Amino acid sequence: MANKTFKLNTGQDIPAIGLGTWQSEPGKVREAVVHALKAGYRLIDCAYCYGNEQEVGQGLAEAFAAGIVKREEVFVVTKVWATYTTRCALGLQKSLENLGLEYVDLFLVHWPLLMNPEGNDDRFPKLPNGERDIIRSHNHVDTWKQMEALLATGKTKAIGVSNYSKRYLEQLLPHATVVPAVNQIENHPALPQQEIVDLCKEKGIHIMAYSPLGSTGSPLFTAEPVVKIAEKRGVKPSTVLLSYHIPRGSTVLAKSVTRERIEENLKLIDLDADDMKLLNDWSDKLTREGQLMRFVYPPFGVDFGFPDKS
Ligand SMILES: NC(=O)c1ccc[n+]([C@@H]2O[C@H](COP(=O)([O-])OP(=O)(O)OC[C@H]3O[C@@H](n4cnc5c(N)ncnc54)[C@H](OP(=O)(O)O)[C@@H]3O)[C@@H](O)[C@H]2O)c1
Repeated sequence: MANKTFKLNTGQDIPAIGLGTWQSEPGKVREAVVHALKAGYRLIDCAYCYGNEQEVGQGLAEAFAAGIVKREEVFVVTKVWATYTTRCALGLQKSLENLGLEYVDLFLVHWPLLMNPEGNDDRFPKLPNGERDIIRSHNHVDTWKQMEALLATGKTKAIGVSNYSKRYLEQLLPHATVVPAVNQIENHPALPQQEIVDLCKEKGIHIMAYSPLGSTGSPLFTAEPVVKIAEKRGVKPSTVLLSYHIPRGSTVLAKSVTRERIEENLKLIDLDADDMKLLNDWSDKLTREGQLMRFVYPPFGVDFGFPDKS
């Protein structure tokens, strides 16, 4: 399964599983990247906002120098942070310098909003009252126009979005000359976001599933249907949660800085129709009961159009 890929609307192959780097601490992430590439990962998910791109870049450089992989064999993703959504070219340049790369394979709009580019912090500007310093008059379609212009520079092979709801996609697509290659969203059986997944499938936009394990301190590992399938298949709950995305046609991102987990997370299994039904029934039940679990929702104070948050 480590070699499995999906096709993007650009014609590029994208691996079915990638290493996440959010909250991967300094002093650990370089080693995690090297170990992941050694173990067989061929996709690394980064972001300017994670504050660790330089160390991720050191890991990549070490793996290239050691002959573990060649640059063209690794699919590197990074994202323009919200303080740069009126300066996408600068955002990309900064990420490339951090990563020590000439190009990335995919550049995403991290969140569809603008935080004050002239505020009191490069990444998390705040107002005197402690709220996030957001420019509410900004139109996310303008950011997409800047993203489209980046393709001609060759500094990214593809462009896409992240944290786009159905409502936001429907605002964007009529104005898009280039259809996003990807929408990276939180996705797991407790937050299936089926309306987004279905629209993306219809429009040829590939889903990258983030926080598939429910992020740090997750309750998903002990959820009854997950445990039941894990016991039946003789695997860990984490394997069930990661494998869930493959029949959905999505790429899954798993973050770990722990050697054994990095290796273990690569061992996806083929969930059968009965397994998927159990998980989908659980999703439906959580939806009906208003019990969906969203683990990542920064306090921007913006309605991004997700039904569970609108
Ligand atoms: N676009 C966005 O806005 C966005 C938002 C969130 C995440 N992401 C991307 O998606 C990636 C994955 O999401 P995430 O980091 O939120 O969470 P995640 O991958 O769902 O969970 C990571 C947590 O699970 C632990 N873990 C990993 N493998 C495990 C295993 N086999 N058994 C038990 N625990 C395990 C990790 O611990 P250790 O590291 O200590 O092993 C870490 O605490 C991110 O790193 C990032 O690249 C993107």
